[in-house]
Amino acid sequence: MVAPASSVPLAGRRALVTGGASGIGAAICARLAADGASVVIADLQLETAARLAADTDGVAVRLDVTDFDAVAAVVQAHGPFDVLVNSAGVDQHAFFTQTTPADWRRLLAVNLESVLNTTHAVLGGMQAAGYGRIINIASEAGRLGSRGGSVYAAAKGGVIAFTRSIARENGRKGITANVVAPGPIDTPLLRQAVAQEGDKIMTAMTGATLAGRLGTSDEVAAAVAFLASEGAGYVTGEVLGVSGGMGCGA
Ligand SMILES: NC(=O)c1ccc[n+]([C@@H]2O[C@H](COP(=O)([O-])OP(=O)(O)OC[C@H]3O[C@@H](n4cnc5c(N)ncnc54)[C@H](O)[C@@H]3O)[C@@H](O)[C@H]2O)c1
Repeated sequence: MVAPASSVPLAGRRALVTGGASGIGAAICARLAADGASVVIADLQLETAARLAADTDGVAVRLDVTDFDAVAAVVQAHGPFDVLVNSAGVDQHAFFTQTTPADWRRLLAVNLESVLNTTHAVLGGMQAAGYGRIINIASEAGRLGSRGGSVYAAAKGGVIAFTRSIARENGRKGITANVVAPGPIDTPLLRQAVAQEGDKIMTAMTGATLAGRLGTSDEVAAAVAFLASEGAGYVTGEVLGVSGGMGCGA
C-alpha cells in the first residue's frame, strides 16, 4: 500500500540549490523549505541569498558554480545532500555570428559545466546513501533550439543529455535525475532580455506557448518539488516541460 502524501514531504532532507538568490531558483528554495527540506542556497549574490535563507531557515553560501574546487568545498562543508537542484544560469541574446569564443565559454561554463561540477560533488554522497534526487533546470531552448540563443540552447541541450546519462548510470542506486524545461518565465533574466530586445520578443515568446502567457517561478518550483519528492522515485531520465505547452510534441 502506498503511504499517504505528507504535508512536509521533504522533512529531514537536505537540498543544495544553485542560483537560488533570484527568479526560479529563489522560488525553488522557498518551496523546498516549505515542504520541510533544509536548503543550502548557493549563488554569486550572497546578500540576496542570505535574506532568503533567513526567511526559510536555510543557509546561504557565495559560490561561483563554474569553479570545480569551490563547488567541491561547499559540498564538503554542507553536505551530504539528498536533493540537488541546478538553477544557476545566464543567457545572452545575439545571433551566433555576433558572438565570440569568450561568450561561448561563459555560456557553456555557467549553464552546462556548472551542472557537471555540482553533480560530481554530490553523487558520491548520494550513492553511499542509496538515495538522491537531481533536478536540472534546462530550457525548452535545449529541445527546440533558440533564434538568438544558439550557444545557450546548445548548453541546455547538453544538460538534457547529461542528465539522462546520470539517470542511466544511477538508476539502480536509488538516485533519480530529471530535467525541468521552462518556457518563458517572468524573472529578472527574462526582463533583461525584454529590456534589451523590446516588447516584440515578449509577444513572440508568449505567442509560442499554447497558454498564451508567461509562466511564474512558482509554477516551475511546483514541478521541481514533485521531482524532489520521495514519491517521484519511479520518474527518472525525463524532461518535464513547464512552458505552457511550448515543447508539446518535442
Ligand atoms: N526565465 C526564463 O524564462 C527561463 C526559461 C528557461 C530556462 N530558464 C533557466 O532557469 C534558470 C533560472 O533562471 P532565472 O530566470 O530564474 O534567472 P535569474 O537571473 O533570475 O537567476 C539566475 C541566478 O543564477 C545566479 N548565477 C549566475 N551565474 C552564476 C554562477 N556562476 N554561480 C552561481 N550563481 C550564478 C544569479 O546570480 C541568479 O541569482 C536558469 O538556468 C535559466 O537558464 C529560465
